[in-house]
Amino acid sequence: MKLKGKWALVTGGSRGIGRGVCLELAKEGCNIVVNFVSDPKKAKKTVSEVKEQGVDAYEYKADVSDRSQVNEMFKQITEKNKLDIVVGNAGVVKMQPFLEVTKQAWDFQMKINLEGSFNIGQEAAKYFVRRKKGGKVIFMTSFNQEVPNGSQGVYSITKSGIKMLAKSMALELAEHNINVNTIAAGAVATDINVEQRKMFPGLIERLSKIIPLHRWGTVEDMGKAAVYLASSDSDYVTGSTIFVEGGIMINNGMMINIVED
Ligand SMILES: NC(=O)c1ccc[n+]([C@@H]2O[C@H](COP(=O)([O-])OP(=O)(O)OC[C@H]3O[C@@H](n4cnc5c(N)ncnc54)[C@H](OP(=O)(O)O)[C@@H]3O)[C@@H](O)[C@H]2O)c1
Repeated sequence: MKLKGKWALVTGGSRGIGRGVCLELAKEGCNIVVNFVSDPKKAKKTVSEVKEQGVDAYEYKADVSDRSQVNEMFKQITEKNKLDIVVGNAGVVKMQPFLEVTKQAWDFQMKINLEGSFNIGQEAAKYFVRRKKGGKVIFMTSFNQEVPNGSQGVYSITKSGIKMLAKSMALELAEHNINVNTIAAGAVATDINVEQRKMFPGLIERLSKIIPLHRWGTVEDMGKAAVYLASSDSDYVTGSTIFVEGGIMINNGMMINIVED
């Protein structure tokens, strides 16, 4: 077991990719704090699934975009148990064509995705520096940290910002033995894209054709990358990104030769 006896906080761990991360970390012996903001039932369900792996777990409600709630969460958690790994996974998207982007949608995504990651990242770093035992910070970004999707410009800007947040943190925190990396996830069918899949029927099949590995990602795929970045296997990796996106970014259109329309 790669993470036996460690403790991880996973923001947005209650469902979707965050839940997958919690379960994969738990399979490696990691104890988990499952953060959520709106759905205690799903958080409790994830906690019991995590406990089935033979580790300890509990849920903690806090809005990552609210600094005082984040500070209180770190205070309460670290009074109870240590933390070795912090996964900043909570995120939202609001689809709007660029010409129709509202200030409200801009603020909503910036506040939760980018400022929320800063809040979590800085509190994690302060704690790890105080504790003097190093630590692992992982942010769930997206392949949109490199290339945008139509009608998801603001979301892509937040993910690109998180990539630079991770690099800046990695540079300044290396001397404290703190590794900071991102997982650039590809398409995974979760609640975040339910609306998109309703708007574009057949999206799963259409996208699967142009993804070189011909399928959407799973929450387990993302969780396994998180295990690597959380474990000592990645001790020499910092300021970096693991792309877990089925190769979607290397398809520059040339697959037209081998895939029927
Ligand atoms: N699914 C994809 O295709 C995809 C692709 C690339 C990257 N990602 C990234 O992966 C991460 C997880 O996405 P997902 O697909 O798993 O989404 P999801 O199924 O919609 O889950 C979102 C999670 O974030 C939590 N959350 C939302 N706002 C929060 C806030 N202000 N404070 C604390 N927690 C908050 C939710 O908690 P509640 O349950 O309490 O509401 C939930 O646990 C996001 O950062 C997303 O951008 C997803």
